[in-house]
Amino acid sequence: MSRESSVAHQPPPEGVSAEHWQRTLSLREQLNYHNYRYYTLGDPVIADAEYDAMFRELQELEKRHPALQDPNSPTQRVGGQVAEKLTKFRHDVPMLSLNNALEDAELDAWFSRVRTELAKAHGKEPQHFELTFTAEPKYDGLAVALHYENGRFVSAATRGDGTTGEEVTANARTVQNVPLDLHATATKDAKIPVWLEVRGEILLPHAAFEKVNRQHLEQGVQPFANPRSAAAGSLRQLDSRITATRGLVFFAYGWGKLEGYTPSTHQAYMDMLDTLGIPISEYRVHGNEEKVRAFIGMLGEKRNQLGYDIDGVVVKVDRVEHQETLGMRSRSPRWAIAYKYPAQEATTLIEGIDAQVGRLGTLTPVAKLKPVQVGGVTVSNATLHNMDYIDELDVRIGDTVFIKRAGDVIPKVTRVITDKRSGNETRWQMPSHCPVCGTAVKKEEGRVAYYCPNRKGCPAQLHARLLGFAAKRAMNIDGLGEKLATALLEKGLVKTFGDLYRLNKDDLVQLERLGEKSAQNLLDAIEATKQPPLGRFLFALGIPLVGEHVATVLANHFSLKDLAGFDAASYDSEEGLSITAEQLLPVEEIGPGIAESVEQFFADPDAREMVRDLLRVGVRPVEPQRRKVAEVPAEGGVKKRDLFAAVEPEAPQPLAGKTFVFTGTLESCTRDEAADSVKALGAKVSGSVSKNTDYLVAGEKAGSKLKKAEQLGLAVLTEKEFQTKLAEWQAV
Ligand code: IVH
Repeated sequence: MSRESSVAHQPPPEGVSAEHWQRTLSLREQLNYHNYRYYTLGDPVIADAEYDAMFRELQELEKRHPALQDPNSPTQRVGGQVAEKLTKFRHDVPMLSLNNALEDAELDAWFSRVRTELAKAHGKEPQHFELTFTAEPKYDGLAVALHYENGRFVSAATRGDGTTGEEVTANARTVQNVPLDLHATATKDAKIPVWLEVRGEILLPHAAFEKVNRQHLEQGVQPFANPRSAAAGSLRQLDSRITATRGLVFFAYGWGKLEGYTPSTHQAYMDMLDTLGIPISEYRVHGNEEKVRAFIGMLGEKRNQLGYDIDGVVVKVDRVEHQETLGMRSRSPRWAIAYKYPAQEATTLIEGIDAQVGRLGTLTPVAKLKPVQVGGVTVSNATLHNMDYIDELDVRIGDTVFIKRAGDVIPKVTRVITDKRSGNETRWQMPSHCPVCGTAVKKEEGRVAYYCPNRKGCPAQLHARLLGFAAKRAMNIDGLGEKLATALLEKGLVKTFGDLYRLNKDDLVQLERLGEKSAQNLLDAIEATKQPPLGRFLFALGIPLVGEHVATVLANHFSLKDLAGFDAASYDSEEGLSITAEQLLPVEEIGPGIAESVEQFFADPDAREMVRDLLRVGVRPVEPQRRKVAEVPAEGGVKKRDLFAAVEPEAPQPLAGKTFVFTGTLESCTRDEAADSVKALGAKVSGSVSKNTDYLVAGEKAGSKLKKAEQLGLAVLTEKEFQTKLAEWQAV
């Protein structure tokens, strides 16, 4: 791992002993290397405690000897520099933009133009001309240029207008996967160019985006509209310490000024970056038109699971020589094109606005739309979030608006096209009484949400709570949907969550359209949810401000006994040791708002009775195992971390680095549950089989995935084999 460092032979700075100097250099090199293992490869080879010890030793040395100060020291990644304003930065080589292909036909036309032109220039027939493309994601972030002089990071700048951007060196230094010294991250035989201007995109992964917006909401600061603006806002910060907390990541895709290295192909350049330890996408294809089209299809399907935003695929002619032949238009090259995925945006008419009552009583205005196709789905409702949002956008009934879909979430209204107003539009007011139970609506001072205070009696809230409890990501009660929830509540069969577990077949068959078989299936499904992971259980309870993520954070830090004084052995006790906000506050990501809400929730006798009742009917939340990894994992058993995951699980990770694919029908559990159980042990679960798959678990009626796995010679497990192995892994 030890490598020749460019500064290793320099004499120590004044007043620093040779020994301290060597130690400083060695610590920096090791920390830079381990940072790379962790953030770029997701494959660390030392435990956090060892990293922390080296980090502290380096901090001490630098504190003791101010002459050792170095802006590129790994200790400086936390930021520190506060600028008055960002200074302008002129690019040596302009940063270009790209022409778009919005339809397949436009991409085809570009392919054929490029092929014809290049063949002609080489005196060949187009169909026989050998031509290779590379294609990679079109990241939806902020373009930046990073400059390395003899392998040392020296400056960074945003794209700006392409000629002049803004200097963001101190901020870019805090981006954890940006290497600061290539000598520490490059492979042994890699040649470090004298000058390297790497271009790429800075992004904010979804988990980090949600985290910063949660914090903003807690602090009463306006949340960011989308990950791109959050990335831009974070990188263009005056205070680099703030940038450091945001969790930005960088992916490289091009070059600017180069010295001491001339790439012959885009592919070769990207491979070179990889050997230097500069982060590049794991998704890239190299081949003919057909391969590029297949890649576009594949990535389009994966798009919503990447953990960060992409809005298309950039296709580039691979050979630099060919790129030069094709040349440029004024601001964009002829040798590249951005294929854009269908917009997740459309315009339509607002026909009405309803106030929908959520599980906590919050009234959410929902726009009733003239149905419209967005990204292949018909949309007829879109959220307007709250009254402040309506006022801010000045949305009126009768307006033509933009709506946007992002991933799997509910579409939202993003903008009003005021030019289309006729004057007949009407403003909407939050109803003064709950549209379902008629109770007078309330609003807390300083909060944006209006709510129906009839927590116990409002049928809409009960309905939403029941659905929230049964939801896939909560208790996951298969088959308990909208209609069934309504029927159970109307017949008075279910008044509390615990009642679900007291249902019997006679109760259920009275319900319309529920036959014996479905009734039994539902009972089985309910029974199967009696041992939920604690995080999912907490999420299911519907504690205000405790979403799925916060629930996991809580479950990783506390037991149900800590939180409410209940565990399986003591559910009958009336006493409890409810936790206070003060005890919750030190937990990272738990702000005062959440802490208070959790405290209040568990202090409420009704909520406590609800939990106790669930324990009484046999629900036993399973607590995550907590153990810090304290030693270096054995060879081959490295702990992989997902760059895009928000929470670090602290349980043992015997399946770290392993990728599973589940296919076919499983008998003993759902595929989601099987996936959750291996994820809890550190594995990744993927939807498609590739050579990187470690195990394919094949249930009944497995099809093409099984075939592919067999062709690739991968390990295939039957459900039974999987269950046996799972028990062994869980015992680790
Ligand atoms: S290449 C000369 N590759 O798209 C080619 N650009 O519309 C210059 N972008 O400002 C860019 N992902 O911010 C390239 N894989 C990728 C990209 C990419 C995102 C952005 C980049 C650029 C914009 C142009």
